[in-house]
Amino acid sequence: PYLDGLEDILTSLDDSFVLSIQINRPKARNALRTNLLKELADTLDKATHDDMVRAVVLTGGAKVFAAGADITEMADKTPVDVMNDPRSGYWMAIRNFPKPMIGAVNGFCLGGGNELAMHCDVLLAGTNAQFGQPEINLGIIPGAGGTQRLTQMIGKSKAMRMVLSGQFMSAHEAEKAGLVAEVCEPELTIDKAMALAKTIATKPPVAARLAKESVLKASDAMLAQGIAFERRSFATLFATQDKAEGVSAFMEKRKPTFKGQ
Ligand code: CAA
Repeated sequence: PYLDGLEDILTSLDDSFVLSIQINRPKARNALRTNLLKELADTLDKATHDDMVRAVVLTGGAKVFAAGADITEMADKTPVDVMNDPRSGYWMAIRNFPKPMIGAVNGFCLGGGNELAMHCDVLLAGTNAQFGQPEINLGIIPGAGGTQRLTQMIGKSKAMRMVLSGQFMSAHEAEKAGLVAEVCEPELTIDKAMALAKTIATKPPVAARLAKESVLKASDAMLAQGIAFERRSFATLFATQDKAEGVSAFMEKRKPTFKGQ
């Protein structure tokens, strides 16, 4: 492995300057518990300062890229807990990673999982990929930039449909909408992402870094305000009874009843 002692992700560096990171909590459908985000942030931090890494490929499993934040961790959190949560620092480390990162998505890519995917610079998806922001079913909203990045990537109407209804989007629709660059057979997703990362790794690293930064500048200034607003709203919702009901219903495997409280 590239970094030793990790529990939730697998890492390896090949001799073509490409670092592979695989999210690996299959029993919890790759839910992004806090430790997982920390391991991701630590790995990217090391890679930032390592000349042997010129590009990253981020993948999940064959049936689930990531099922979002770990809902069991959210059950007892208050708005203040959310505001003080170390998770936001880990998200910032992911957001600030300066080298090209290619996401290879197969299967479910939901909630925080979809937000993580949208932090990648290029997304490739298997035909079995399904994208969604189902947080509304838990009485909350996306909390890691999803309302902003999704809207920017697929436009207001499609973003509203996903965020308000919790409905999923197929790989082909995601490609049509501009969320992913290419759809392929699920067996080929990782190979294609590796091939693209290897191509990028042959390019001059400083130019690649500044190219990434420049492309992100096309939208970053607008994003910052929206992300701050989203974060405050996300924390506020942790004070509602509907959030408690949504999370309990998920854990008890029953349908939630929402009352507007
Ligand atoms: N957090 C914690 N545990 C999860 C989880 C999650 N997000 N998603 C799935 N699991 C667990 C289930 O509780 C279940 O555990 P047990 O085996 O102990 O019962 C196990 O993973 C398998 O889950 P399913 O039986 O539901 O598996 P499935 O293959 O039938 O369905 C799925 C897969 C469609 C991904 C479904 O599990 C699902 O809908 N998960 C929740 C998705 C979701 O709501 N994500 C949003 C989270 S909130 C968020 O992400 C906030 C944010 O942005 C900051």
